[in-house]
Amino acid sequence: MSNTLFTPFSCRGLDLPNRIVMAPMTRSHSPAGIPGTDVAEYYGRRAGADVGLIVTEGTVVDRPGAGNDPKVPLFYGDALPGWSNVVKSVHAQGGKIAPQLWHTGMAKKPGAGHFPEADADSPSGLTHTGKLVAPVLSESEVADIVASFARSAAHAKDMGMDAIEIHGAHGYLIDEFFWAVMNQRDDKYGGDLKDRATFAAEIISECRKAIGEDMPIILRFSQWKQQDYGARLAETPEALGEFLGVFVDAGVDILHCSQRRYWEPEFEGSTLNLAGWAKKLTGLPTITVGSVGLDGDFFDAFQGKGSGTRGLDDLYERLDAGEFDLVAVGRALLQDPQWASKVKDGKLDALGDYDAASLQTLY
Ligand SMILES: Cc1cc2nc3c(=O)[nH]c(=O)nc-3n(C[C@H](O)[C@H](O)[C@H](O)COP(=O)(O)O)c2cc1C
Repeated sequence: MSNTLFTPFSCRGLDLPNRIVMAPMTRSHSPAGIPGTDVAEYYGRRAGADVGLIVTEGTVVDRPGAGNDPKVPLFYGDALPGWSNVVKSVHAQGGKIAPQLWHTGMAKKPGAGHFPEADADSPSGLTHTGKLVAPVLSESEVADIVASFARSAAHAKDMGMDAIEIHGAHGYLIDEFFWAVMNQRDDKYGGDLKDRATFAAEIISECRKAIGEDMPIILRFSQWKQQDYGARLAETPEALGEFLGVFVDAGVDILHCSQRRYWEPEFEGSTLNLAGWAKKLTGLPTITVGSVGLDGDFFDAFQGKGSGTRGLDDLYERLDAGEFDLVAVGRALLQDPQWASKVKDGKLDALGDYDAASLQTLY
């Protein structure tokens, strides 16, 4: 069995003992947006059991319309002491941690979120089916949102976080800018796919100014959207390369390539997955994700369905071949804080099936 998964990785001052990343997973256990000791213990438990890097659940930047659920943690104001405790808990176990900075865009419904009266923010006010349901952001409002990501990035630096991740995936605000059906702007934030990446590029460069040179910036992106699982931003490797090149130029360090099943090829004619292509096209380190250790994908989890286990040999082969650098694990780690230690010790028989009931607790 390969042990590449348990070899060190370094990037811009972030030194990890192994390649396992805890995938960002919303838990909605932070009343009024403030993470408590249960959240600190939840992450600390995984840091103490061989998870190389923890990416937190999506945590909301300080713009009134940014959050869609008041139990999702904020990343500003009164929530910051709670996050400092999370960092202490993770560091006490020798772990590393990055917050996933999030604006939920049009996923915020009227009357929902931390500020129920706030409008949802979106590039063109349009749902993916073309219904106009929200105001169109002005350029100065877009700049305000860019600045809110940078402020949160500065908080992450100040409290000793080890990296930041910008949530540009799954049909939330940044991805709504990427997606032509929701972004029909005719200013610098709209146009072809490269132009639609301008908003994220500005967020990356402003976050870089806020955190300095010795802390990595991770960008998470996906082809699929929560509004349309079959949606694609890039139909060809060339288009993907041009899109990702915008973030390379903006100074991103690591690309977190979200797909539902890591073993699925991204484009015809090659077995490379999304992270494989992203690495090949940009030369940057990449994180793969999607059903690691499990045979059913994570949409099933939201339907209350469990999943059986799945072997890791094909993952090791891809990692050994250098297709990607890091491996994010979602549900398997949500359910079992010891998952990484069990894999490290070769105790694969001790890995259980995934039970969607594990979503109910914050163990
Ligand atoms: C309960 C739950 C919450 C999630 N919340 C987020 C989130 O806040 N941000 C994000 O980028 N992805 C989120 N995801 C997606 C995961 O990060 C991951 O990409 C997905 O679960 C696939 O990995 P898995 O098959 O190992 O679970 C969530 C997934 C689950 C199951």
